[in-house]
Amino acid sequence: MKLALRADLLDFTHAPAWGSTALDGVRYRPDHWLLVDGPRIAGALPGHAPPGPDWQQHDHRGQLLLPGFIDTHVHCPQLDVIASYGTGLLDWLQTYTFPAELRYADPAVAQAGAARFLDALLAHGTTTAVVFPTVHKVSAEALFAAADARGMAIITGKVLMDRHAPPGLMDDVAGAQADCEDLIQRHHGQGRKRYAVTVRFAATSSPKQLAMAGELCRRHGGPGAAGGVYMQTHVAENTDEVRWIAQLYPEARSYLDVYHRHGLLHERAVLAHGIWLDAADRALLRDSGAQIAHSPTSNLFLGSGLFDWQAAVDTPHRVSLASDVGGGTSLSLLRTMAEAYKVQALRGTRLSAWTALHTATLGAAEALGLAQDIGHLGTGAMADLVLWNWAQGPVAVHRDAIARGGVPGVPAQDLHARVFAWLTLADERNRVATWVAGRRAAL
Ligand code: GUN
Ligand code: ZN
Repeated sequence: MKLALRADLLDFTHAPAWGSTALDGVRYRPDHWLLVDGPRIAGALPGHAPPGPDWQQHDHRGQLLLPGFIDTHVHCPQLDVIASYGTGLLDWLQTYTFPAELRYADPAVAQAGAARFLDALLAHGTTTAVVFPTVHKVSAEALFAAADARGMAIITGKVLMDRHAPPGLMDDVAGAQADCEDLIQRHHGQGRKRYAVTVRFAATSSPKQLAMAGELCRRHGGPGAAGGVYMQTHVAENTDEVRWIAQLYPEARSYLDVYHRHGLLHERAVLAHGIWLDAADRALLRDSGAQIAHSPTSNLFLGSGLFDWQAAVDTPHRVSLASDVGGGTSLSLLRTMAEAYKVQALRGTRLSAWTALHTATLGAAEALGLAQDIGHLGTGAMADLVLWNWAQGPVAVHRDAIARGGVPGVPAQDLHARVFAWLTLADERNRVATWVAGRRAAL
């Protein structure tokens, strides 16, 4: 199948400078044809020079085509608890989250939940995610199967937790190790699937379990066809949590150091939040290549704190963007970017639209070591694409007309101003279509 999609193409060739609204790194190709041959992008042509008759043409002139977003931290079973009232992290886990996750012991619940979740991601414009299922092996199996069925690239793994949780949500070190080995063997590097050693957080794993997780990372860390396994966890999200970890691991210098001591920090490690870190922690992130999955809607909703992105840039260490549903309040990475901007505004700095969009596309792909395949519209990349309306609803339509010079007497604004207004006002209702590996998703 040869497809040609005509739209305004927007992606990145490299990271824009922090705080800059200049076009450095931005590849904007208004009114172009994007050529898709089978699962991959085959090139691009100007709008006035369409490809030959063997290309099926779809004219989406006046709409915006981007690489699918990459959500680096989100919980599949927590669609059941999104928007739950009244608690901070530790109460929220006990009151809402653990009861919901218990239901995923049932294979039918896990399978239906995985299908609902991945379709919801695609409907929000996200085509790749790093996902927490539950402690149950079947919940990871269900996500891998549902991602395979949709042709989606996914990174996930059975959650490790052997203490401080309800009995139905706990494993043990030997059983968990056997489950992980089996899942890695059967899924890691098969098609677009990648395995993540998934430590919920240091409070719900014993030191023995953390050591086992570190050993898995070491044993399966080699270069191989798919590269080594990933590691995902939470770190330094909430001050009560940080105090608890200090009590549980008095020998560690810091919360992050607990993971370091157990061999869990490496270039494929994704740690959600990282709000309450110090300079030594940030240097550890830098030196290990691990990334922080910044989750602004979750941090605001649970009252966790304001992530210091400027300090990350100054260190520097890697940052990606994440919804963290159900602590987070939306699967939309557009809404996530808009909230990230507000978090930085409260810290006295400004997040440019370019840094936000780069972080959710090419930046995340590079941080995950997947940029040869995803995160951009370059020739040879997988055709994971999302088509967006520039504006939805009368206020946004008016604001976009102002930005592009469509209102008489008002001078057009620059591209950054237009794109910033778009990502601030847009959400999943702006999405027109999603393609995964060149196939349009039926949603
Ligand atoms: N820390 C440990 N588990 C969780 C979780 O499910 N969500 C969030 N936001 N933080 C956590
Ligand atoms: Zn989380």
